[in-house]
Amino acid sequence: MSQLGTLEDLPLRYREELQQLNLAPLWPSMRKVLPHNKPSRKTQPTFWSYQAIRPLLLEAGRITPIEKAERRVLVLANPGLGIENLVATPSIYIGMQLILPGETAPNHYHTPSAVRFVIEGEGAYTLVGGEKCPMHRGDLILTPSGMWHQHGHDGKEPVVWMDALDLPLIYYLEASYAVEGKVQPDNNLPDSSQTRFRRSGLLPYDTLGREKKPYPLMRFPWQEVRGALADLASATPADQAVRLAYVNPQTGEECLPIMGFSALMLRPGEERRLTRRSASSVIHVVEGGGEASVDVVDSRWEEHDTFAIPTHAQVRLRNLSARDPAYLFIVDDAPMQRKLGFYEEFTAP
Ligand SMILES: [Fe+2]
Repeated sequence: MSQLGTLEDLPLRYREELQQLNLAPLWPSMRKVLPHNKPSRKTQPTFWSYQAIRPLLLEAGRITPIEKAERRVLVLANPGLGIENLVATPSIYIGMQLILPGETAPNHYHTPSAVRFVIEGEGAYTLVGGEKCPMHRGDLILTPSGMWHQHGHDGKEPVVWMDALDLPLIYYLEASYAVEGKVQPDNNLPDSSQTRFRRSGLLPYDTLGREKKPYPLMRFPWQEVRGALADLASATPADQAVRLAYVNPQTGEECLPIMGFSALMLRPGEERRLTRRSASSVIHVVEGGGEASVDVVDSRWEEHDTFAIPTHAQVRLRNLSARDPAYLFIVDDAPMQRKLGFYEEFTAP
C-alpha cells in the first residue's frame, strides 16, 4: 500500500488558495473515506439495561408532562457516534417511549419511517392512517414514512415501547421533517390490516391482480410471531437458526424500505454465531436471558435489554437457560444496503 501525501506536504499558500475557492485535495483524506478491506467504524458495541432505563423513564413521566415532550422518549445513544447525535448505529435510531394512562401523543407524520415494539403495559394504541392498532407486549406496529400517526392510552398502567426509526439517514440527507395535524379521525375498522392479512399463504381475494399497497399490514402481533417461531423450531435442524423475517404479505419483501425486522429464537442452551455482514443492527431481548459477545465486548443480557451491533461485527449469542427458549427482536439496515447494492455476508469470522 503506497503512502499518500498529507496536507502538511502542501505549501501553505497552495492550501489557502484551495480553501478560498472551496476546494480540497482528495489524497490526504483518501484512506479515511476509503480504507482498505474494512470500513472504519465509530459505532461501539453498546449494551443498555432495561432495569437501568426504566426508573429514569418513569421519572420523566413525573417531571415532564406530555405537553412538554410530545413524545416522552429516552434515546439509546451510541457513545462512539456522540450521545448528542441520538443514534444507536449510523442508520438506526432507538428510543424508549413512555405513555401514561389518559395521555395522548399528538397526530403527525414525518419523512423518516418508524416502528413501535411494545415492551410493557396494556391499554395503549396507535392510530395509523385512521386505523386503530392495539399495542400488546411484543407487538410490532409500523408507521411508515408520510403516514399520519398518533398514540393514546386507555389503560391503567404505564406503557413503554421501543421506537426504531431510520431517522439518522434521512437527517443526514437533510430530508427529515414532521408535519403536525389535527386529531386523526378513526376509520372504525380497528386493526383491519391484521385481520385481513393474518394468515401467511392466504390473502384477501380482492388483492389479487391489483396494484400492491406498499404497507398492507400495519401490526404484527407477538402472539403470532412467537407461535410461528415455535412451529419453525420444530422443523429446523439444531445447527440452523430459528429466525423469521417481518415482511409485506403481498410482496414477500421487507416491510419497510430502509429498516429490516426479524425475530430470533434461541433454543434452551443454544449458542449461535450470527453471520458477519455489512449491515448494522440493534438487538432487543423480548424474553429470556443470556450472554453476548460483539467483537471484543462481552455482556450479559436479560429481558427488555437492548444492544447495538456495528457493521461487519462478529456476534455470538448464548441462551443461558437450559429449560426455556430466548426470543430476540432484531432491527437492521439490510433492506437499504440491498437496494443500494452493497449488502454483504461474510463466511469467515
Ligand atoms: Fe412520529
